[in-house]
Amino acid sequence: MDQLRIFVGTVSGNAEMCAEDMADAVKATGREAVLESMGDLDADAFGQGGDFLIVCSTHGVGDVPDEALDFFEDLQERRPDLGGVRYGVFALGDTVYDTFCFAGKQFDELLSSLGGKRIGEVGQHDASSGDLAEDVGVEWIGDWIDTIDPR
Ligand SMILES: Cc1cc2nc3c(=O)[nH]c(=O)nc-3n(C[C@H](O)[C@H](O)[C@H](O)COP(=O)(O)O)c2cc1C
Repeated sequence: MDQLRIFVGTVSGNAEMCAEDMADAVKATGREAVLESMGDLDADAFGQGGDFLIVCSTHGVGDVPDEALDFFEDLQERRPDLGGVRYGVFALGDTVYDTFCFAGKQFDELLSSLGGKRIGEVGQHDASSGDLAEDVGVEWIGDWIDTIDPR
């Protein structure tokens, strides 16, 4: 793995804090990781491929965060070939909603439909659990990074 690119979609900052700690955990293993806000991305973001992690909360009624909407819709419309993409998803949500973690699930379905290969199960954080998203995310990525980039 050359570099893990982490794409973050957030409204109130939980996913961003979580992604920052996950990036630090990856770097602590000697690998490279960079964070990018989905608000700055379009359908060209995946370039020629590589390894990616989506860290995204759900808002509205199962919706992607506003800052991620243009990115999501551009992928839907332009449908880039993601055959060279391996990705993971860590979704933030709250089980009080029937649409628990739907934004992360929507990203997973979209990237998969474009030819991306998901590595591992979709990680989830439940805001009602009482656990910090950062703690759950860092624990999840420890296993995930060893799966996508065994050493
Ligand atoms: C107005 C509102 C709507 C929400 N809708 C959902 C939802 O449909 N499904 C879900 O799983 N979580 C939902 N959540 C919970 C958030 O995803 C959760 O609090 C998350 O940690 C927020 O992360 P963020 O700060 O990165 O945006 C909602 C939260 C708010 C405030």
